[in-house]
Amino acid sequence: MSLRQFMSLRPLTRALAAVKDGLVHGWDETAQALGLQEDLYANPRHRPLSRPVTVVLIGAGHRGTVYANFAARYPAEMRLVAVADPNPHRRDRLARLHGVASERCLDRWEQVFDRPRMADAVIIATPDALHSEPCLRALELGYDVLLEKPIAPTEAECRAILAKAQATGRLVGVCHVLRYTPYFRELKALLDKGLIGELISIQHLEPIEHVHMSHSYVRGIWRKSESSTPIILAKSCHDTDIIRWLVNAHADNVHCFGNLKWFTNANAPQGSTERCTDGCQVEHECPYSALQIYLRDRKRLYVFDLPEDSTLWDATILLNLKTSDYGRCVYRMDNDQPDHLTVNILFKNEVTAAFSMEAFVSYEGRRTRIMGSLGDVTGDMESFTLTSFKTGKRRSWRMKTDAHGGGDHAMVRDWVQAVGQQDATLLSSSIAESVESHLMAFAAERSRLQRTIEDVRL
Ligand SMILES: NC(=O)c1ccc[n+]([C@@H]2O[C@H](COP(=O)([O-])OP(=O)(O)OC[C@H]3O[C@@H](n4cnc5c(N)ncnc54)[C@H](O)[C@@H]3O)[C@@H](O)[C@H]2O)c1
Repeated sequence: MSLRQFMSLRPLTRALAAVKDGLVHGWDETAQALGLQEDLYANPRHRPLSRPVTVVLIGAGHRGTVYANFAARYPAEMRLVAVADPNPHRRDRLARLHGVASERCLDRWEQVFDRPRMADAVIIATPDALHSEPCLRALELGYDVLLEKPIAPTEAECRAILAKAQATGRLVGVCHVLRYTPYFRELKALLDKGLIGELISIQHLEPIEHVHMSHSYVRGIWRKSESSTPIILAKSCHDTDIIRWLVNAHADNVHCFGNLKWFTNANAPQGSTERCTDGCQVEHECPYSALQIYLRDRKRLYVFDLPEDSTLWDATILLNLKTSDYGRCVYRMDNDQPDHLTVNILFKNEVTAAFSMEAFVSYEGRRTRIMGSLGDVTGDMESFTLTSFKTGKRRSWRMKTDAHGGGDHAMVRDWVQAVGQQDATLLSSSIAESVESHLMAFAAERSRLQRTIEDVRL
C-alpha cells in the first residue's frame, strides 16, 4: 500500500493496518516511524474559512485559557475579540496575548450583552452557576455559543437553553471533550462497525484520583453541590454523555448509590489543624497535605495566579495556603459531594451500563469494558483490546493522549467549523443530545438522594 493510500484510510482502518501478528503498533508510533505529522482526524467536511470566527471569551480561567490558546495557535480559524472576567490578572493576561483592545476587556459577563453583538460567537467558561444566564442572553442576541459543561446546575435551566437554541436557531456546542479523544472516537467507530456484534452492556469507571478529588471537590469550588453542581454532573456528565453516545439509544431508567464517606470532620486525625500551615502534627504523613501538593510537588498551581517571576512562587503559594480554601484541612471543610458513587442505567434498547465514579484511586484515565454478542473490549484510555469470541484473536489499539486525551483542540476546531459554516451537524453532539445526557445525571442524583429507581424524563 502506498503512503497516500494508507493516509486516506479512516483512522480506525489505519490503526488496524498497523497491528501485525498481535504486536501493537499504534498510529502515533506508525505515523512517527513514517515521519508523518498530520492530523489523524482531519475531517473531510472541514473547509478553509474565508475569515477567522470571532469570539468573545466569558471566563478567562483554566478552561477559558485552554480555548483561547486555540486562537493563538490557529489564528486563521479563530480570533479573540473581547474577554470578560472579574479577575484582572487573568483577563489582562489573555487580552495582552490576543491583542484585545482595552475597551473590550470587561469585568463581568453582563457587560458583554449590554452592547450590540461584537462577534460571531461566545465561549462561556465561567463557574457552573454562571452558565445558563449568559448562554440565554447570548442566544437572544444572535451569538453562537460554546458552553462549558455542565450546561447548567438545574434541569429547568438545561431545558430552557435547549428551547432557546431551538427558538433562535443558534448553535450551542457543549464541551464534551472526551468525545474528541482518539480513545473514544475509535471505540465508537469500532461499535458502529459492529466489530463486537450487538452491544449488550458496558462497565465504565471514572477514577478521579485522590489528589484531584481533594483539590476540586473537597477544597475547590465544586465542593458543595448547592453552590456548584452535584458531582454526577460536575464531574461525570462527560461519562453519561459518552455512555449514551456509545449505546446510541435513549436511557430509560437510572439508579444510583453514593455518599461522602471519608472527607468528613469525623475523620480529622488527632493533631490536625484548621490549615496545613497551622503546625499540623500529621502534615508529613497526610496524602492530602496542601504543603506537599502545592508547595513541594507544585501540582495544580493554576488556581493561584502565580506571578511570571518564579522566584516569587514559594511566597505566593504559601500566602495562598494561609488565606485560601486550598490550604484548609480536607477533613475540616464544608464539602458535601460524594467521594464514591455507582450508577446503573437501563437503555430503551435493553443495553445496560454500570458506571462508577471513584475518588480513592492512585490513577486517572477512564477504564472501559464493553460486552458484545461477538466479542468484548477492555480499555484504559491509552489503549484497548478487542477479543473475538469466534477466533479468540486479540487486536490492540494504542494512542498517545494529553490531559483530556487529546480532545480539547479537536473539539474547538469542530465548533469553529460549525460556526464558520453555520452547520450544527458538524458538532459531535447536538444540544438536544447533550441535554439528554444531563437529564440522565439529574435522574441519577434524584435516585441517590431518594433511594429510588428514576425514569429519565426526556
Ligand atoms: N470540559 C471539561 O472537561 C472541563 C474541565 C474542567 C472544568 N470545566 C468547567 O469549566 C467551567 C470553568 O472551570 P475552570 O476550571 O476554568 O474554572 P476557573 O475558576 O479557572 O475559571 C472560571 C473563571 O470565570 C470567572 N468568572 C467568575 N465570575 C464571572 C463573571 N461574573 N463574569 C465573567 N467571568 C467570571 C472567574 O474569575 C474565573 O477566571 C466550569 O463550569 C467547570 O465545571 C470543564
